[in-house]
Amino acid sequence: MTKAFSSRLIEWQKISGRHDLPWQGSKDPYSIWVSEIMLQQTQVSTVIPYYMKFMTCFPDVASLAASSLDDVLSAWSGLGYYSRARNLHKTAGIIASLEKFPDDPEILAGLPGIGRSTAAAISAFAFSRRAAILDGNVKRVFSRVFGIEGYPNEKAVENRLWEKAEALLPESEIECYTQGLMDLGASLCSRKNPECTLCPMKDCCVAHVSGRVNEFPRVRPKKALPSRETTFLVLKKKDRLCFERRPETGIWASLLCFPEIREGEDLSRHDPLEIGSLPSFTHVFTHFRLNIGVLLVVTEKQAEGLWLTLDEALNAPIPNPVRRILEQIPPPSP
Ligand code: ADE
Repeated sequence: MTKAFSSRLIEWQKISGRHDLPWQGSKDPYSIWVSEIMLQQTQVSTVIPYYMKFMTCFPDVASLAASSLDDVLSAWSGLGYYSRARNLHKTAGIIASLEKFPDDPEILAGLPGIGRSTAAAISAFAFSRRAAILDGNVKRVFSRVFGIEGYPNEKAVENRLWEKAEALLPESEIECYTQGLMDLGASLCSRKNPECTLCPMKDCCVAHVSGRVNEFPRVRPKKALPSRETTFLVLKKKDRLCFERRPETGIWASLLCFPEIREGEDLSRHDPLEIGSLPSFTHVFTHFRLNIGVLLVVTEKQAEGLWLTLDEALNAPIPNPVRRILEQIPPPSP
């Protein structure tokens, strides 16, 4: 079965897998590392334009290490999960001080932002090392093919999945095998409506053969997310808007954001010439929903803060909800 699984997967990947993603076709560990970090919590189609821009701004480890965190956060702005960008910058500093890019998955896994699976993907793709990956998609493939019961994120189940992942590694063509696992999980073996009839594992997949595909992997019932409320104050003075730097910890750490105001807060200290509102909306984080109200205050008074033009703000390190609001503000007339 071990041989059958890896050789079938490799064969399938060669014919039906992805071959022209921008980070493929090179063994440059830096570009592979950047792509794997971006792909940790984000879909391929969203990552591609960010990846292209990031590689233009920071083409190698040295340029990333020499850049400011603010420039890295600006390039990351909109991609979310900003600790990935902070860790990327920190790790670039560490790697730039080494003689060469580490190729050992255990060493890579010890660097900020690189867990066991990402470390394995980098060492497999960049250095052809036999190392096992196990991300969410791969867990789904293994749970189905081998009929692994239980919640995949529960320690005992996860350990079994890692054992499987290690035991299945092929003797050669590790790049093709690793990409095949990712591709199968992202295409045919999708969470909903998997296309089992096209799958190279259809005659050996425990879940498919027993007609229980929808029972694997076991999914925890989702808890309703708690909601929080905030109101952003968009202070506008001529063609400039007021921003505040977020604290270094917590949500949107170190990014630029509109000042937040409490409900009923007295706005008279801003000497408003005009007060209006923009549509409210909800931003969903992993652990809560943030309902965001937006007040627009036109003023002539320059409060404390960073006053940026629309264009400057759009190129600054801002989170998505701020970008969404900026896109509703008409550009100044020439
Ligand atoms: N997801 C994680 N890593 C990936 C890669 N290298 N290609 C496509 N999808 C991925």
